[in-house]
Amino acid sequence: MGSHTPLGDVILIPKKTDLPPDVLPDIIERFKTTRLTALQLDPAAFGSNYAHEIQFTYETWLSRATNPLGKTFVSLNTSNPIAPEVLDKSYNDPSLSYLLHDEWLGTVTLLGPKVLANARSDLTPTPFTIFTPGNSNDPPDLESLKDHHAVYLIVAMFVRPGQRRVGRGRRLVEAALAAAIEEARNVSASRVTIVLNVESENRAARGLYQTVGFEECDADATALTSSTLEMKWERDLL
Ligand SMILES: CC(C)(COP(=O)(O)OP(=O)(O)OC[C@H]1O[C@@H](n2cnc3c(N)ncnc32)[C@H](O)[C@@H]1OP(=O)(O)O)[C@@H](O)C(=O)NCCC(=O)NCCS
Repeated sequence: MGSHTPLGDVILIPKKTDLPPDVLPDIIERFKTTRLTALQLDPAAFGSNYAHEIQFTYETWLSRATNPLGKTFVSLNTSNPIAPEVLDKSYNDPSLSYLLHDEWLGTVTLLGPKVLANARSDLTPTPFTIFTPGNSNDPPDLESLKDHHAVYLIVAMFVRPGQRRVGRGRRLVEAALAAAIEEARNVSASRVTIVLNVESENRAARGLYQTVGFEECDADATALTSSTLEMKWERDLL
């Protein structure tokens, strides 16, 4: 056994092309189970619901988990040792071993980047409108981001109840922010904005997002419904 770089407790689900085909169904099953658990345990926290998503086919889960515009981060107990026989089955990639064999303790999905055309200080159109259904699964057009404003959307934030208040949510969001900054820098975007929707009653989530630097958007300009609040996090990259 060789030495390996210590892993943080947040692991990005690899792109479909980087996953051995025979492990893909296991990853999809775990993705589905975690999402359905979140919808069952915290129905008020999400824009979707269990009755709707329990009907999804394998193909729908596959397209969600491998969306070219999506990055899903998983919180795991990476301090657990990996059994050698498990590591072998996972093609010697320790992060994949954890994804395949440890319980998923939390997730967050980052969608993007999209180009915010004609960006103005009042953010018209609002960043949210470019992530409307039907428009969110196109592959990213990385070329068009050069010197433009890159926008991302955070969805499906969830930490299992027994694992809350120990920083897992914060580390998941921080991993998503770091990935967005890195990608936006790599394509020479001038600015990065990350947006999300949160129920105004959801104090835990609002507290979490504020902790990592999200601010509430102007309610009049962006509110979807009176109970939903929109938040954003922005940085200049130049
Ligand atoms: C929101 C959620 C993801 C937070 O995850 P978490 O792992 O408990 O968050 P963290 O431990 O990283 O907390 C970071 C900070 O957020 C704030 N926070 C988290 N939970 C909080 C709560 N219940 N009440 C008030 N503030 C809270 C605190 O400032 C906390 O820092 P602290 O623990 O040092 O005080 C989790 O409660 C959850 O999954 N809720 C149900 C699903 C949900 O609401 N998803 C969000 C949809 S928008």
